Amino acid sequence: MKKLCLLGLFASLAFQPVLAATAPDPLKTKEAFINHLMKQMTLDEKIGQLRLISIGPEMTHEQIRDEIAAGHIGGTFNSVTRAENRPMQDAAMQRSRLKIPMFFAYDVIHGHRTIFPISLALASSWDMSAIALSARTAASEAAADGIDMTYGPMVDIARDPRWGRTSEGFGEDTYLVSRIAKVMVKGYQGDNVAAPDSLMAAVKHFALYGGVEGGRDYNTVDMSPTRMYQDYLPPYRAAIDAGAGGVMVALNSINGVPATSNTWLMQDLLRKDWGFKGVTISDHGAIHELIKHGVARDDRDAARLAIKAGIDMSMNDQVYGKELPGLLKSGEVAQADIDNAVREVLGTKYDLGLFKDPYRRIGKAADDPADTYADNRLHRQAAREVARTSMVLLENRNQTLPLKKQGTIALVGPLADAPIDMMGSWSAAGRPEQSITLLEGLKNAVGDQAKVLYAKGANVTNNKDAIEFLNRIIFDREEVHIDQRPPEQMIAEAVKAAEQADVVIAAVGEARGMSHESASRTTLALPETQKALLKALKATGKPLVLVLMNGRPLSLVQEQQQADAMLETWFAGTEGGNAIADVLFGDYNPSGKLPVSFPRSVGQIPVYYNHLTIGRPFTPGQPGNYTSQYFDEETGPLYSFGYGLSYTDFSLSDVSLSSATLKRGGRVEARVTVTNTGKVAGATVVQLYVHDVVASMARPIKELKNFEKVTLQPGEAKVVTFSLSEDDLKFYNPQLKYAAEPGEFQVQIGLDSQNVKQQSFTLL
Ligand code: NOJ
Repeated sequence: MKKLCLLGLFASLAFQPVLAATAPDPLKTKEAFINHLMKQMTLDEKIGQLRLISIGPEMTHEQIRDEIAAGHIGGTFNSVTRAENRPMQDAAMQRSRLKIPMFFAYDVIHGHRTIFPISLALASSWDMSAIALSARTAASEAAADGIDMTYGPMVDIARDPRWGRTSEGFGEDTYLVSRIAKVMVKGYQGDNVAAPDSLMAAVKHFALYGGVEGGRDYNTVDMSPTRMYQDYLPPYRAAIDAGAGGVMVALNSINGVPATSNTWLMQDLLRKDWGFKGVTISDHGAIHELIKHGVARDDRDAARLAIKAGIDMSMNDQVYGKELPGLLKSGEVAQADIDNAVREVLGTKYDLGLFKDPYRRIGKAADDPADTYADNRLHRQAAREVARTSMVLLENRNQTLPLKKQGTIALVGPLADAPIDMMGSWSAAGRPEQSITLLEGLKNAVGDQAKVLYAKGANVTNNKDAIEFLNRIIFDREEVHIDQRPPEQMIAEAVKAAEQADVVIAAVGEARGMSHESASRTTLALPETQKALLKALKATGKPLVLVLMNGRPLSLVQEQQQADAMLETWFAGTEGGNAIADVLFGDYNPSGKLPVSFPRSVGQIPVYYNHLTIGRPFTPGQPGNYTSQYFDEETGPLYSFGYGLSYTDFSLSDVSLSSATLKRGGRVEARVTVTNTGKVAGATVVQLYVHDVVASMARPIKELKNFEKVTLQPGEAKVVTFSLSEDDLKFYNPQLKYAAEPGEFQVQIGLDSQNVKQQSFTLL
């Protein structure tokens, strides 16, 4: 009873930040606050804080509230309105013994109510302010729905596009993804993570999830330490250095040891080397899955391994609650193991400002939006602006694009009028009825200036297994609507529309579920239905514009030949249709660049641009014996990293360096002039790559080290200057020593990764 009163006093102090100036308040610092609270807690209450549950059919709302009141739950996810979260917070604040607030999490990945383009598309913008805007807007919308934490950003480097979660990350390049990781964290968390419109970022999936074998989700990752440190770990580190409050742990194993039981990963690397101070969260059911991984005999063993490794919260399994008391009793787990985890959970709530005001994001019932889904809660303008910057023009023969708002336009394809797909995966708080399809976007753009004829032309696929997978397994609802008409009839209808038109736009690609968690593919080709449609459209002889909607690089060798123009739009979000129309009609000049290489075929994987130097490299245009190549396919990607066209032309001067040598501690500046030599204003991305010519180990043929997106009027020129220091030249050697080695470095600057101007300097 006495303890309770103390906490009551403490809680009231916490609500009154202004304290007497004379005596320092012992509870004012985070540490003192948490220590004081921990002293009040029973073991049961402590273990309760480590439990993170998904709001779903497993428990009724009443059961959940009772469990919260009993102190058995620390946080929840998957409830997305203030009205849903308030009763749970009430249960904690009014009915639980210690009145420790709950936190509410959600997968806010690329928008919340307003859906922004998928993460891979955001990366294609290379526009840090657009990406920041998407994260900030998402945070403010989610916080306004009573959410405190996002399971994002997802910064797994992805170099195998068979992996369905490629769509959810920012591509293949360490430097680009690291820059974005930082921007996303700052966007979500704002200047102050405790602010009512901020979300705490839990960066994921720590670590190396993108390296799963064969692109098969949840698979094993076997990776050399140098590759790990050099290529795959830096984005997580960048997010943590930017202040991410949480880390979600990956489902995969790393060189045989599951991340969830990996003491080296969770303690030596994350806590000791990187100094991470926040909360670690297992992925869904991952602690229990240690049994299936074959490293734990049973739940007891799994709980022991996970808590010892440093997994603070257990997501959606009961393993900690069930097993930790016994493990503590037997001495297999120390009180300190549990206390350390509890301290991080309480620290998270403290940082989120929840002890000061548990309702700071939930607000008062009287202020709840009358309609959670009201259109005026959306940020359509921001979504449209960001979506436009994310599109990549892959082909544009004979200046097919931009189109004129006149004549007759045939719009065909299974994705032309597909509101759910437009949102991409991980967009569950979005509403398909609020997303603008391409058909709507085109009509909005042309008004009565042009006629738009629409025909679906093909189902996204007619493969029964794939449809079953998308509709029953991935989403458990009729996501992919299959038109039952014979394929020939659908194609004939599209051809008829095409024949009446001046230009044909074909919206083709993937259903959004094809690029999602657990949606790995063995082919990157368009499904047969769509290929047949394109063949028939091509035969009409009408100019053919492909608008691609997909969440991973596709193999498009045939389509590249067929199309007069090809625009990669990914899954563009709520305002996708309007944004695509802006680009198609030249109301916005495309400026996106690929954040991933597009292979010619699935057999070429991996084709990432920055592979290590080898002894027998292939020389483009000179196939020869005994060089590294495939004899049955052209070597190299179809579209390389950093590639993307514009409606204008840019020229790049030679590179000039401020010095031919670089002293340790000094800097060398690399300068180019970029000029808009075309007739319209446009933006491009000037990209700086570096190659270490001779080192103690093979080094990448080039590595992105900086970039700048520049907007230029016709005829305008701009000098772009990049400054390089020793830090930009460092790498992890096989002993994992991070240092720059003396010698020659090539500086390559281009508007994509392949066509570059080059100069060299020497690091002394
Ligand atoms: C499993 C996914 O791997 C993870 O990314 C996600 O955050 C959780 N489920 C919660 O939805």
